[in-house]
Amino acid sequence: MKKKLIRSTSEHFEKILQKTPDYIFLSPGRINIIGEHIDYNDGFVMPAAINKYICFAVSKNEDSRCMLIAKDLNETYEFDLKDELKPVDKMWANYILGVLHHLKNKGSIMGGFDVVFSSTIPMGAGLSSSAALECGIGYAMNALFDLGLTKEEIALIGQKAEHTFAGVNCGIMDQFASVFGKKNSVIKLDCTTLEYKYYKADFKKYSLLLLDSNVKHTHLTSGYNVRRQEVELGLAIIKQHFPEVRTFRNCTENMVLELKDVLGETVFRRCQFVVKEIQRVLDAAEALSNSDFKTLGRLMSETHQGLSKDYEVSCDEIDFLVDAVSSEKSVLGARMMGGGFGGCSINLIEKGAENELIERVSKQYRDAFGIQLKPYKIKISKGTTLYKE
Ligand code: GLA
Repeated sequence: MKKKLIRSTSEHFEKILQKTPDYIFLSPGRINIIGEHIDYNDGFVMPAAINKYICFAVSKNEDSRCMLIAKDLNETYEFDLKDELKPVDKMWANYILGVLHHLKNKGSIMGGFDVVFSSTIPMGAGLSSSAALECGIGYAMNALFDLGLTKEEIALIGQKAEHTFAGVNCGIMDQFASVFGKKNSVIKLDCTTLEYKYYKADFKKYSLLLLDSNVKHTHLTSGYNVRRQEVELGLAIIKQHFPEVRTFRNCTENMVLELKDVLGETVFRRCQFVVKEIQRVLDAAEALSNSDFKTLGRLMSETHQGLSKDYEVSCDEIDFLVDAVSSEKSVLGARMMGGGFGGCSINLIEKGAENELIERVSKQYRDAFGIQLKPYKIKISKGTTLYKE
């Protein structure tokens, strides 16, 4: 699949630009084992890059003009790098323009280039195709124009682009996972310091299965930004009452409970979720190192309940998919993954039991919602790379 993607992207470049591309880059999507909606709450997350990619075929040109060609959408966007870059009405172009804008602001000197890109990361499925796009372009600019950026800087610029050109006030998880992904490894990332540690992604007799609800997360931007405001408000209140608290990291469940009335029902539940989820990731990392998959699965399922009932970022379709596997012996844990409001559930399932489960749940899902379920069996792979020079 990767080879096919590279070939078709490259051929498209040759067809349109009448030359072979100088470089090919691959930038992956990501999964997240556990630690949802806490990257912007000073928590820890456990993402990994997967074998679904955006492929970029790129060459420098002789002037300052750039041509961006989105092969899958059959759309092109042209601009001059010398002009001030602003968000436009083509969303996909904004992810790229945002990265270029922030690179320019940082003083990076770039020249014109042409790029064709094509993807096997489904869009709007919670697998971070936008982070893959941002990081792929950042990585490509770094290589083409020798910008001397670190991987961390590439991830941070991608995040900035998302904030300013896409309007989603996201955390750092997606961009970090896309750039720092490592084959067969899960990253445990401390979102406060950006320190990270790789854990062997050896699930022994279990595997990770994604079930794509096929519900595109259209409310993600608004819902996501509102959640951020709610927890920021919650933390400010908690700090007033407990001055020793600096972040959610050193806030306890009891403190939140004590302030229930002051926080109000909604903000209380949001904060309670955050504090519990931070602890769950620490427990999950330990469970993974001990190959204690029963515990890992249980924690994943607890996360889902929190995301659905307290943080309220799930939706009926995803709740249905999680419920549908909850009494399955072969499934140790399941939960919604990513920003929510649609997208995929992630399931820790016994190897060999996948096909039967997919068949059964697909039928139940179709009967309930009239929507076709899309299953993805994924492999954990490496982060953004230069494939060919
Ligand atoms: C989106 C954001 C991430 C993270 C997740 C939820 O994917 O881009 O920063 O907050 O949602 O965990």
